Amino acid sequence: MLPNVVVVGTQWGDEGKGKVVDVLSTRADAVVRFQGGNNAGHTLVVDGEKIVLHLLPSGILRPACLCVLGNGVVIDPGVLWKEIDALEARGVPVDAGRLLVSARAHVILPIHKQLDLLREDARGDAKIGTTGRGIGPTYGDKVARAGVRVVDLLDRASLTERIRAAWSSVGRAVADGGGDLPDQDAVIEEYLVYGDRLRPMVGDAAGVLYRIRAGGGSVLFEGAQGTFLDVDHGTYPYVTSSNTVAGAACTGAGVGPTAIDEVVGIVKAYTTRVGSGPFPTEVGGETGEWLRAAGAEYGATTGRPRRCGWFDAPLVRQAVRLNGVTRLALTKLDVLSGLAEVPVCVRYGGADVDGWPLSLEQARPEYASLPGWGVDLGSCRSFEDLPEACRAYVAWIEEAVGAPVDLVSVGPGREQTLVRGGLFAG
Ligand code: IMP
Repeated sequence: MLPNVVVVGTQWGDEGKGKVVDVLSTRADAVVRFQGGNNAGHTLVVDGEKIVLHLLPSGILRPACLCVLGNGVVIDPGVLWKEIDALEARGVPVDAGRLLVSARAHVILPIHKQLDLLREDARGDAKIGTTGRGIGPTYGDKVARAGVRVVDLLDRASLTERIRAAWSSVGRAVADGGGDLPDQDAVIEEYLVYGDRLRPMVGDAAGVLYRIRAGGGSVLFEGAQGTFLDVDHGTYPYVTSSNTVAGAACTGAGVGPTAIDEVVGIVKAYTTRVGSGPFPTEVGGETGEWLRAAGAEYGATTGRPRRCGWFDAPLVRQAVRLNGVTRLALTKLDVLSGLAEVPVCVRYGGADVDGWPLSLEQARPEYASLPGWGVDLGSCRSFEDLPEACRAYVAWIEEAVGAPVDLVSVGPGREQTLVRGGLFAG
């Protein structure tokens, strides 16, 4: 049986969590998202057709697996509606038996999206590069105790009161910034319709998860974004507005720390980031272009080209520590095939080997070169099939970051997922 596992990204997101969650969800009774919103994105293939999901976990394709949007998630109900429609149109039912939405999750309003864009605009050269989905302003209102929750969508009086309050705070900021305020009453009616549709799926997610675990079931907690986009531990202010580290699974789903057995860190064989902010091992020029093309590094949510760079051992080691990672899954190893030598960052100059700088802006990466491998890895079906230099690269990462690599991915297909044992072998 699968233990209770949290899956998190160890870099800046887009490490390929979806694929690993997909593999593990075959053995889970529930898959829970605990933070973020539709700023995330992963692509599913249903009957040969691609669907990009931003909110629903990929477990939604498995009838035996309950998908949960926890209280820590921020929900754009219009986006959720479209995802449900897209799946149902392809014969995947999304009903109360498959999806549970926490009544306590916060709701993204149209004015949150407007404010997100206006604030970005006002930042001029210091833009964060947000996804423009209203994530930051919605979390801001949550913490300011001025938000709208899913439970409010179920009741006209509460929704009216909450939306009126939002219009007099966020709405004012939008108007001051020159934005066109949508009609309050129209938004109330639209959101009540969302509430009616979601009503059967809304519930006490923490209570349901407790009962699943008490009955011997297992829960998979699916993180979104990555460790260094965490609002506390990331490259502030160039971060997202939620806690993305494994500890956030507890607050964002409503389980205690003792409920978590394993933390899987997803790590890309090199590094990418979307949006602004420090990125010590970034490579520009032709080499950067080559990495982007080889790895098809374009955002699933915004389509933006991702910034690319070499593997950064101090960064991932810090992520292993911040998340309490017990096992790593290494993705996109195939992308590095063909390099004669693979540069890797072994430490930041100025810091001692074990040190972590107070700001990543100060990090001066120092590199080593590891031997490359010429052959394509796409047809490898077991870890032992990998060329020796490639296995040595994996062993070097394990040693440098302090956690075992239990799974290696060498392509998008399920058969290109090489399991070495541990958690994934069950
Ligand atoms: P926000 O989450 O839309 O506020 O964007 C804040 C920062 O996080 C920006 O740099 C985004 O590009 C980045 N970001 C948000 N979600 C993701 C994700 O799922 N993958 C990678 N980067 C993300």
